Amino acid sequence: MPATTMDELVSLCKRRGFIFPGSDIYGGLQGTYDYGPLGVELKNNLKAAWWRAMVYERDDVEGLDASILTHRLVLRHSGHEATFTDPMVDCRNCKSRWRADQLKDNKCEKCGSTDLTEPRPFNLMFKTAVGPVAEEGSFAYLRPETAQGIFTNFKNVVDSTARRLPFGIAQIGKAFRNEITPRNFIFRVREFEQMELEFFVQPGTDDQWHSQWVDARLQWWRDQGLLSENLQAYHQAGDELAHYAKACVDILYKFPHGLEELEGIANRTDFDLGSHTRSQADFGLSANVDPNEDSTAKLTIPHPETQKPLVPFVIEPSAGVDRGVLAVLTEAYTKETLENGSERIVLKLKPHLAPIKVAVLPLARNKPEIVEKAKAVKNLLMATGIGRIFYEDTGNIGKGYRRHDEVGTPFCITVDFDTLGRGDDPSLTDTVTVRDRDTMSQVRIPINELAAYIRERLV
Ligand code: GAP
Repeated sequence: MPATTMDELVSLCKRRGFIFPGSDIYGGLQGTYDYGPLGVELKNNLKAAWWRAMVYERDDVEGLDASILTHRLVLRHSGHEATFTDPMVDCRNCKSRWRADQLKDNKCEKCGSTDLTEPRPFNLMFKTAVGPVAEEGSFAYLRPETAQGIFTNFKNVVDSTARRLPFGIAQIGKAFRNEITPRNFIFRVREFEQMELEFFVQPGTDDQWHSQWVDARLQWWRDQGLLSENLQAYHQAGDELAHYAKACVDILYKFPHGLEELEGIANRTDFDLGSHTRSQADFGLSANVDPNEDSTAKLTIPHPETQKPLVPFVIEPSAGVDRGVLAVLTEAYTKETLENGSERIVLKLKPHLAPIKVAVLPLARNKPEIVEKAKAVKNLLMATGIGRIFYEDTGNIGKGYRRHDEVGTPFCITVDFDTLGRGDDPSLTDTVTVRDRDTMSQVRIPINELAAYIRERLV
């Protein structure tokens, strides 16, 4: 049975060290979460899987890591200053603030009053002062999407790699939005990470690339363990589209709180590169605008046939890392009733996402030879580079298994007296027990075959 409530996930995440509320010891900072010892591994594994699929396994994508602090003109010319808003209402009764489009029956969620102000646009971007001078012109924005760093580096990447159309630039990084009402655990937060690809194509081929990317992204999420029946592609209607998009397909996932957006795949046309290329006059701004406020770049690339400068179209698969973590946790969380009537919670994560790949448990922690052998097995597996191998020295094998089921460790290896050649059967010398998380079955494997056995099953 998959996790049915968000509470179960939140509780597991806190108990086992996946995710904690941000600034918790000072009462928390709404809309922020911290990833704990296992959360950081899971998140890194998800990002690594994305990077591998988007950059390493393709021959037409380059990577980038642009800065978070962004010049205000970037976000003016991108349209975010003017339009990156959500409709906000105040409750006149209890003075709380809400996002108008999220209220049910136009009622305050706190006190139930319908005495609300008219919705007004609230810009979601965080401003921050840059340098010691606190004057109007000295602020910058924390980027609200990683995409703009890709557009502003378009020319740098083209010039330094000699790329020609079609090609993409991939980036993973933090984005910040001052959400009016952060909610649903890590689903809607104020600080989050995005995995974004801007894939530049010749105008006219954009629709075809758009649908190819929707298919590719759906398949990738299935490869991360999400079931087809919990995924849905939703074609946004014209009035739902962001200011830059000609079309957008959202990949929705059945989160514990409902079917909601996990990733958006937009056709941004030439909106962004065009905006950063055009002059102020083209924006309809007054003619006496400071010319320094213009972008200096011509963000073009040779047309594949005519070789004339062309502002390409862009297809943008943009996924939330935190929503991805929430989705794979939701899918993996399983409660089972065992034959003896007891309950087992097991995270059936795909092995490549599991925070700990293998736990090595000595049968007895007070027997130096067993401890030493178990540590040698850990080191042997670690040297293969298959990810985090955990030496689990709690002295209680049953409890160790249960803990590792709950955090999704695919394999537990036990080193015992037979391993040392001190059991009844000498043929078991230098073998260990390998327990499979999902089936709970155990097999005896020679230590010198262990690395191959585990690697084969982790990939
Ligand atoms: N560059 C395009 C863009 O930013 P978006 O639909 O606004 O598009 C892309 O965001 C993805 O980022 C979303 O599908 C979602 O997964 C994630 N995301 C957006 N806002 C978020 C928030 N407040 N908290 C967590 N994830 C968020």
